[in-house]
Amino acid sequence: MVEFALPKNSKISGGKTWPKPAGATELREFRVYRWNPDDGKNPSIDTYYVDTHDCGPMVLDGLIWIKNHIDPSLTFRRSCREGVCGSCAMNIDGQNTLACTRSMHDVKDGAVKINPLPHQPVVKDLVPDLTNFYAQYASIEPWLKTTSPTPQKEWRQSHEDREKLDGLYECILCACCSTSCPSYWWNSERYLGPAALLQANRWVSDSRDEATGERLDNLEDPFRLYRCHTIMNCAKACPKGLNPAEAIAELKLKLVERQV
Ligand code: SF4
Ligand code: SF4
Ligand code: FES
Repeated sequence: MVEFALPKNSKISGGKTWPKPAGATELREFRVYRWNPDDGKNPSIDTYYVDTHDCGPMVLDGLIWIKNHIDPSLTFRRSCREGVCGSCAMNIDGQNTLACTRSMHDVKDGAVKINPLPHQPVVKDLVPDLTNFYAQYASIEPWLKTTSPTPQKEWRQSHEDREKLDGLYECILCACCSTSCPSYWWNSERYLGPAALLQANRWVSDSRDEATGERLDNLEDPFRLYRCHTIMNCAKACPKGLNPAEAIAELKLKLVERQV
């Protein structure tokens, strides 16, 4: 298991232990990072006890139970609750993952420890500020770019060419990979990080796209692409089973191949 550092504003002190719910027969302890930008205090770790008889099995179910039954001020993102939207990415028991697909019963020992995604500024509690992450995604221009006349019905693609997008199009932009990448931690202003680079490869690999050369030109930079040192944390972290490190290696190969 890869252990990660805490979020950027992580000078943690204290924390509240909330009372155990009355009458509950089976409890699970949750230790959750809390930080409120408006109260002037350091971040803290609060301890809650979840009645697992009254709650679904996933870590996100536990957080929602806490919010509904104990502490309505606890703040986190979620939407689909089925691993599709990427909103509930957080660090659970030392691993970046999706709270809605991680069972609390798979966290074996003691408390379920929950922090925001590491090395990002925090907006509040478990909500990271992903402004830079999304700006980097936008910078790879994630849309079909063409110069040919637009066909009347659709841009066609063979089955074989469509298959080249497998392992790329499934990315839900949860940021688990980029925020697990040491190169991204230290250079996130200049290195695009595994998520944006996997997406860049998705468009470079698309047979319908007519801007491949321009896309590769934009990546040929000592920081934007070449800060990947193949440490592989990204592939271990991806909750969708994708391999951004491989996508980055493919991009590097395509840059070399066009020079020969
Ligand atoms: S393989 Fe590259 S992108 Fe992935 S964690 Fe390592 S340095 Fe980061
Ligand atoms: S590659 Fe995986 S971990 Fe990275 S943003 Fe996409 S889905 Fe999330
Ligand atoms: S709530 Fe959508 S991925 Fe978890």
